[in-house]
Amino acid sequence: MTTRGNNNGLGTLYGIGVGPGDPDLLTIKAKRALENVSVVSFTQLDDGKESFALNVAREAFQAVQPTLIAITIPSDDETPVESKTWTDAAEDIAGHLRLGRHVAFITEGDPMLYSECLLVLESVRSVMPESNIEVIPGVSSVMAAARSSGKPLVTHGQRLTILPRVYGIDDLMEAITTSDTTVLMEVNRDLLQALADREKLGLVGKVTYVRQASTAREDVVEDISKISTEDLDYFSLLIIRR
Ligand SMILES: C[S@@+](CC[C@H](N)C(=O)[O-])C[C@H]1O[C@@H](n2cnc3c(N)ncnc32)[C@H](O)[C@@H]1O
Repeated sequence: MTTRGNNNGLGTLYGIGVGPGDPDLLTIKAKRALENVSVVSFTQLDDGKESFALNVAREAFQAVQPTLIAITIPSDDETPVESKTWTDAAEDIAGHLRLGRHVAFITEGDPMLYSECLLVLESVRSVMPESNIEVIPGVSSVMAAARSSGKPLVTHGQRLTILPRVYGIDDLMEAITTSDTTVLMEVNRDLLQALADREKLGLVGKVTYVRQASTAREDVVEDISKISTEDLDYFSLLIIRR
């Protein structure tokens, strides 16, 4: 989503992917935009932990001391985000854009892959149709995790499937039977449970768990029976190569 022509006195809204965690993986374009904004917005879970994207991008914008707009969303997966949350944030952001201030909405990885970024941009567009919006891609966690695993995701002619979430064995088998490599994001207990019986599924030696790829807390586990459910990290994914 890009709308140019911002000589209308309005600020520009940037949807910025800040990459998988290592601040050195911020793109030059993202860094330049972050050095030039008056406002930085991000989603913040209501569990009090600092936003992952904010932590990654903080250094890039610290010299300009922007106003921060945290969009608080429930940490509990079962509780849907109220549409008012997005509308209120959009109104807040639009207020700054109308005053000619540039605003960044930052998100982990890439904004075009399982991100609320587009939802935020669309919400701003609906309260302010004349807004200037630009999306800046980021390095996705999928790419960073492949590097951490030390093997290519896919090579010439192979098929790749990326899934947001999988529940139970049937779902999992359906996903992995038609692809050479499957990446499962948002790893949850059900998924680990399903994978526990890897022998029966013919998956021994084929599953790699990558946690916090590219950060100081990165961990790569080949034997997933060693991962306890208490140990599960939201910022982790599984790569299954058949
Ligand atoms: C809502 S999705 C966001 C994906 C993001 N837009 C991207 O391009 O990577 C969140 C999921 O991304 C994955 N993820 C994000 N950062 C990660 C990291 N540094 N290491 C491993 N997985 C990560 C996890 O599976 C997490 O549950």
